[in-house]
Amino acid sequence: MQRVFSGIQPSGIPTLGNYLGAIRNWVPMQNGDASLFCVVDQHAITVWQDPRELARQTREMAAALIACGLDPERCILFVQSHVPAHARLAWIFNCVARIGWLNRMTQFKDKAGKDREGASVGLYVYPNLMAADILAYHATQVPVGDDQKQHLELANDIAQKFNHDYEVDFFPTIQPLIQGVAARVMSLRDGTRKMSKSDPSDQSRINLTDDADTIALKIRRAKTDPEPLPEEAAGLESRPEARNLVGILAAISGRSPAEVLREHAGQGFGTFKGVLTDALVAHLGPIQAEMQRLLADPAAVDAALRRGADKAAAIADPIVRRAEELVGF
Ligand code: ADP
Ligand code: NA
Repeated sequence: MQRVFSGIQPSGIPTLGNYLGAIRNWVPMQNGDASLFCVVDQHAITVWQDPRELARQTREMAAALIACGLDPERCILFVQSHVPAHARLAWIFNCVARIGWLNRMTQFKDKAGKDREGASVGLYVYPNLMAADILAYHATQVPVGDDQKQHLELANDIAQKFNHDYEVDFFPTIQPLIQGVAARVMSLRDGTRKMSKSDPSDQSRINLTDDADTIALKIRRAKTDPEPLPEEAAGLESRPEARNLVGILAAISGRSPAEVLREHAGQGFGTFKGVLTDALVAHLGPIQAEMQRLLADPAAVDAALRRGADKAAAIADPIVRRAEELVGF
């Protein structure tokens, strides 16, 4: 049996990028106890999170995942910090991974920015915790964005070194299910940066909770150029903002960018943005309504997450206990 694991940080409201690039693709992967989807609050605190906000955002993220189609009865949906096995295995992995391996992680360099000395140690060893998230379940199928490829290679290096050092064939090889660059949604303000829930500008993204007026306003203000839409996708190559908006309409309407251009070639962005807004509102409206319905009963969401954590722990505890025995604990 091939077990699937993927996670998302509750570091903000989920965005259209999270939805199109990750969450939506998880829905058809649901396969009972062979599929785990995790709200990774321990990863979120690698950068400062207001405690009350974090608790609220964790529940909101879970509600968003359910509203997008993850069914707590058809997969294991849970919160990372509720299952101590992740942190226990991460400590072992901190002692297996080499400093030189972590020094090569480009995401740390990006996220720490200029003040590397001032970044948390957690941000630095984050990939070790990510390896533990996956390997605590012996999961092998990990859907991620292409930005996570390097972290999965590191996870496989850790698994291999553990197996080698303790002379076992215990941790399996992970296969990244990479969602390509094509699945990447870019910022509405700058077509060269990805849309992110942790971007300081709310105008840069569509949140899954944005109402119709907010979506309309953000799309109207989205950066574009004065040219009409080209006949073919090749005509978008040096126009990242235009390409992004075409890509979003394509993804949300289940078509290719070429098909979208066939319908809209020659249109200016005034017209096209109206079409895009209508499509987004129609698609996200039902998700928002379901999220609101779920969040009206927070205790029910929390109870579903507790049940998810129990199911997750039942798988992870024996695996991590065995790893601890191998180490000599
Ligand atoms: P964020 O940058 O919004 O905080 P995360 O780092 O929590 O996102 O990533 C959660 C998942 O969403 C990952 O699988 C990631 O690849 C995907 N994802 C994040 N941003 C985008 C985007 N702009 N386009 C496509 N997928 C994205
Ligand atoms: Na992020």
